[in-house]
Formats: sequence, structure tokens, C-alpha cells
Amino acid sequence: VRVVPAEPAASSRQDCLDLVQRPRRNRRTDWARRMVRENVLTANDLIWPLFLVDGDNIRTPVPSMPGVDRISLDHAVREAERAAKLDIPCLALFPYTDPKLRDENGTEALNPDNLVCRTVRAIKKEVPDIGILCDVALDPYTSHGHDGLLADGQILNDETVDVLIRQSILQAEAGCDIVAPSDMMDGRIGAIRQALDDEGRIDVQIMAYAAKYASVFYGPFRDAVGSSTTLTGDKRTYQMDYCNTNEALREVELDLEEGADMVMVKPGLPYLDIVHRIKETFAHPTFVYQVSGEYAMIMAAAGNGWLDGDKAMIESLMAFKRAGADGILTYFAPRVAEKLKQGRLL
Ligand code: PBG
Repeated sequence: VRVVPAEPAASSRQDCLDLVQRPRRNRRTDWARRMVRENVLTANDLIWPLFLVDGDNIRTPVPSMPGVDRISLDHAVREAERAAKLDIPCLALFPYTDPKLRDENGTEALNPDNLVCRTVRAIKKEVPDIGILCDVALDPYTSHGHDGLLADGQILNDETVDVLIRQSILQAEAGCDIVAPSDMMDGRIGAIRQALDDEGRIDVQIMAYAAKYASVFYGPFRDAVGSSTTLTGDKRTYQMDYCNTNEALREVELDLEEGADMVMVKPGLPYLDIVHRIKETFAHPTFVYQVSGEYAMIMAAAGNGWLDGDKAMIESLMAFKRAGADGILTYFAPRVAEKLKQGRLL
């Protein structure tokens, strides 16, 4: 016989607050919390950035990004297969260019057989159903580490756009589905759209790094692509001032007018206000990049036992969904997708 302790009904209690709304009621049980949950994260939300390096069977850890390696083409194809099995819709490719191949003008960006183009072709052949995004910018290829052409200490806008057009076309010819200009030159989206269309590549999508801030959080990425030691000066004459919000709206507006299919905000977690405002204002597909430094912070804290890494990963990704992001570029993509395959996250 189960003895139910006599407990007066709340309404008959003299000492209880007279509340009509008690928000905790919807939080009391796991099933109710799931039932009222407003946002979900699925593998469809993920874009997985990969760092490429020349050679065969190579996996070199990036020290400032625990769990992330530079990988050779053969491994990249295998990671693409893994991503497809995990329902990750898209990969983003970033090359580590042999320093011998870097020069003032980033010439290697225009080599149709460069590491990125070869890897795109190989992945498209073996794993045709996964999307491939290529970064459009010169920084992995220039000896000075800047995204554009440098003359007398200035980044040349229009001359750089000319090169970016050709880089985009080569990437499209290799089979890349989405070109993603990350260079922040003025007018590059319109110029690239026009050039792709002129080449008959009307189906190639453009994801504009529309609101890209000059951020310290890119540090570990620059280690990964080998531009942190070579970068001269900073990128503040082309990447945005992080004190600004309205400027991000103008950048997005321009990129959409010029033909961007999707826009991106970068970095991620410190810029949720920007993500939210852009999504609210334009209602276009809006992506966010949880950048290398954000990844490194979580991994470092988790590695020290100061945070639960899995929980920090999930909470940070959910914050992007809450802010209105349609998708997230994140180095956590395979890890969170594995967890999603195992069952529900929350
Ligand atoms: C290069 C580029 C950068 C990132 C993506 N593309 C670095 C930079 O602008 O210096 C950063 C990504 C990351 O930090 O994870 N144009």
C-alpha cells in the first residue's frame, strides 16, 4: 500500500503566493521541457570547416585547436564520407599552403591544380552529395598574410576583386557549390556573381562573409593556415570595427543587393546581437561562424576541467539557433553530429 503524504492543495495553503502564472510548471519535468522547447539543433544546421595540407596520409594537429588537424586530400575524402553519414550538409575547405608557394600576389590562388581545387574534385567524385564551400580570399596564399593585394602598405580594393573573381571561377570549375568571399573588399559579391553568370555558372551559390569583424578570435585559424607568423599589421582597413552594429546592416544590405544567396556573421558568440538584428531585418538565410578562437576557448577550459566540454558545445550552438541563425560553421560539427546520431542532445 502506497502511503501518499498528506499535502494540502496549493490553493488551500494560507502561505502560498497568489500567482496566476507560475513559469516553473512548464519546466518541472523533462517531457514538458521538451514539449515547450522553442529551438532545436540538427545536423542540417552544420557546416564543417576542414584544414587541408599537401601530401599523402597526413594528419598534423593544430596545437591551438585541440582535436583539429590539418589533413591531406585522402583524409579529406574520408572525412567527407563521414560527414555525409552524419548528415552534415556541407564542408568548408581551407588550405595550409606550403610557404614556398606563397608570394606577394597570392599567385597560387589562381593555380587550377592547387590544393583546394584538387581536393574539391576528389571529394565531388567520391562523395557527390555533400555540399562544398570554398573560402574566397588570398590570405592562405600571400607571403604577407593579407586577404588582398598589398601595395605601399595599402590593401588594393578593385585590383583584389579582379583576382577574387578568377579564384571563384576556378573553384566553381573544380566543382565547388558555394563560394564564400571572406576578404571584405567592396563590391566583390556583385563582381563575382556577374563573372559566374557570364561563365554559365548560374547555380553556384554565394555565401558572403557579410559582417566580418577584425577579431582577435581568428588567431588559432591563422596558426592552422600558417598566416599567423607572416601577417604584417592587422586587417582593420577591410574587416569591420567591432564597436559597430549599423555598419553590419549596411554590409549585409549591399551584399544582398549584389546577389549574395546567404550572408554570414563572424565571429559568432560575441556577436549574437548582430546575428539577431540581421536575421530580423533581412529575413534571408543567415549563417554564423563559431570561429577558431571560440572553439579554442571552450576546448582549453574543458581540457583544464573547468567546463564540461560537451555541454558548453551544445549550449553555444543552441545560442546561435536562438539568435536566429539558419546554420553554423563550427569545428564542433563532427562531434555534435555524432552525438545527434546517438540520440537527442537535450
Ligand atoms: C580568411 C579567413 C579567416 C577566417 C576564415 N577565413 C581569418 C582571417 O580573416 O584572418 C577565420 C576563421 C576562424 O577563425 O575560425 N579570410
